[in-house]
Amino acid sequence: MDFLQRAVTLAKRGSGNTFPNPIVGAVLVKDDVVIGEGFHAYAGSLHAEAAALGATADARGSTLFVTLEPCAHVGRRPPCTQAILAAGIRRVVVGAMDPDPRTAGRGVAQLRAAGVDVDVRNDPRCERLIEDFRVWVSGDRPYVALKMASSIDGYVAGSPATTQRLTGAAWFRRLQHLRYSFQAVMVGAGTALVDDPLLTVRRGARHVPFARILIGGRRRLAPTLRVFSPLPGYRRTILVVADDGAPWVRELEGVSDIVLAPGERGDVDLKGALSFMREHMAIHSILCEGGPNLAASLLGVGLVDRFFWVVAPTLLASPTSVPAVSRIDGNANRAAWKFDSVKKIGDDVLISGSAARCLAD
Ligand SMILES: NC(=O)c1ccc[n+]([C@@H]2O[C@H](COP(=O)([O-])OP(=O)(O)OC[C@H]3O[C@@H](n4cnc5c(N)ncnc54)[C@H](OP(=O)(O)O)[C@@H]3O)[C@@H](O)[C@H]2O)c1
Ligand SMILES: [Zn+2]
Repeated sequence: MDFLQRAVTLAKRGSGNTFPNPIVGAVLVKDDVVIGEGFHAYAGSLHAEAAALGATADARGSTLFVTLEPCAHVGRRPPCTQAILAAGIRRVVVGAMDPDPRTAGRGVAQLRAAGVDVDVRNDPRCERLIEDFRVWVSGDRPYVALKMASSIDGYVAGSPATTQRLTGAAWFRRLQHLRYSFQAVMVGAGTALVDDPLLTVRRGARHVPFARILIGGRRRLAPTLRVFSPLPGYRRTILVVADDGAPWVRELEGVSDIVLAPGERGDVDLKGALSFMREHMAIHSILCEGGPNLAASLLGVGLVDRFFWVVAPTLLASPTSVPAVSRIDGNANRAAWKFDSVKKIGDDVLISGSAARCLAD
């Protein structure tokens, strides 16, 4: 049995609920038999290692497979390194090192110093689990993924300012799971005005309230837009504007938390807005769902860590068609991207990948 894979599967059970912590899974194995399993369910709950230890009466001489380096710092709970040593675990297989500066190598060092055999794998499956955590733990901004749906030829609509349903029911169900794994979903003013989405997650309660973020522009946004509707278990909608002087913005104070982030061209300074949300609103991860102008701006300033591209089996090319990404300024067109999965979902195809790095000037 691939015990590390089992730990990865367990870790995913915490998905969407552990902010500001990462998702982590752990499996305790003795004589090739699993004697304990655990995962981190939400911030303040047992760490995965402690949960796995709690599932067995005697862990002496066992091997711990854990997706992330055990913590060495005292947080809400005593460090896992202490619990591992106290339990008499002989060997620890670590999937990925912890990018949290409070641990960053200290967990492994403490265990080795105490005579535990530690095997650091730097396993890609475990690295992928903390791709988002790695960004938000740096403290500069939230992790950002861009989700767009387009025709095969790369358009979102046959003409401007129209709603075009491209994808099928199977993708819509899948999207609920994707949204759930993020802390917030974000769209631009154009999308709010044309599609009037509610932006909810139709998937049970969660430990961290879900947030909806709207990037406002010069056009009036009415308080009756569905994105502003208060919903139990959701944070108040966050509206980001470049100028809060307009009467329509004041009118939205009752239904949203307004973030002021003026950019150089009179639009929203996305970098500034995201940093503000990370620092002052505890927003750790965001799924941006368009539209084409917001997508272009995010890509243009290098703020997209991962993309989820859904291709629908249709063609939309015409003289008036709207491309999925509007004109990009900056050097995003030369960014290096890495495809890492392609899946057929119903009649659609989901392509996912990460931003490797920008091929700088
Ligand atoms: N297929 C898909 O995945 C998908 C997803 C979403 C939307 N759509 C479609 O896309 C269309 C709407 O897209 P859109 O491009 O018009 O709107 P959008 O990208 O949702 O919003 C762009 C608007 O946001 C405001 N804004 C403020 N600061 C900005 C910044 N730094 N960068 C970019 N925008 C900023 C501006 O509003 P002001 O103009 O008011 O100043 C701008 O026009 C609709 O037809 C919708 O159905 C498709
Ligand atoms: Zn821990």
